[in-house]
Amino acid sequence: MRQIFHISDVHFGPPHLPELASGALGFIDDHKPDLVVISGDLTQRAKPHQFQQAREFVDQISVPTLVVPGNHDVPLYRFWERFLNPFGAYRRHFSHELEPVYRDEELLVVGINTAHGWTFKDGRIPLRRLLAVAKVLEEASADQLKVVVAHHHLIPPPWFGTQRVLTNAYEAMDLFTSLGVDLILSGHLHQSFIGNSEEFYPKGGPPVVILHSGTTTSNRGRAGERDKNTCNWIRFGSESMLVSNYRWEPSLHRFTEHSQHWYPRHSRSPYTLEGLEEPLAGEADPPGSAAILR
Ligand SMILES: [Fe+2]
Ligand SMILES: [Fe+2]
Repeated sequence: MRQIFHISDVHFGPPHLPELASGALGFIDDHKPDLVVISGDLTQRAKPHQFQQAREFVDQISVPTLVVPGNHDVPLYRFWERFLNPFGAYRRHFSHELEPVYRDEELLVVGINTAHGWTFKDGRIPLRRLLAVAKVLEEASADQLKVVVAHHHLIPPPWFGTQRVLTNAYEAMDLFTSLGVDLILSGHLHQSFIGNSEEFYPKGGPPVVILHSGTTTSNRGRAGERDKNTCNWIRFGSESMLVSNYRWEPSLHRFTEHSQHWYPRHSRSPYTLEGLEEPLAGEADPPGSAAILR
């Protein structure tokens, strides 16, 4: 059984909660996952010292990590930086790598940077990057669990109503479903969601499991997770995947299991990019789906 620990929106800066960061590190020490994924918003305002604190936090993680930036990791008020070098501070003080990839015999995890400097909140995957990610996924073996990590959400959780999703979400879901992606990990909304692509986009191959982590270590929880903090623990074998949503329990001073979800792993090989040019170029939207996703 392999394990991924998924945390998000740690928001070093005023909203950060150090006790919960210690709790997350304690969970990692206790469970020794194969990989820790942090799906963006490391900082509150992309300040050098906030990135340095995030770096110190990640350096305390004793297992491999995969981290992507979020919109809060781009300067909001330092306009010259935001437009000319939006990830300069991230690269200088946290990591040069914006879109890391983790590989082993049973796991392929591809990070996508969905943040940019043009608008603050909205995410985007450039088509060129989407095709590069597709190439990496196409080369995966049938034995590997295929995971995509993106800060911004590709589907709108039901309770967020008309919440916008990232630009190119429809094309990305089409591609990921066709290429046999098992799992998409996101953050940004500061509220957990555990579901699958079929609920929003009933088209294509076997559904992709979609996990949003709430904010794991900040006071910025929203809606049903206001003043709450969450993370996801994923365990998988060759036949199935078990996802547990964990929530911070203040009286116990630790993250405790809040819900558990089981998914079969579908046979997903072989997959190729053949025939995907047409949908990427703008296939007609399926009834009821694209309107939601766009
Ligand atoms: Fe956030
Ligand atoms: Fe965000």
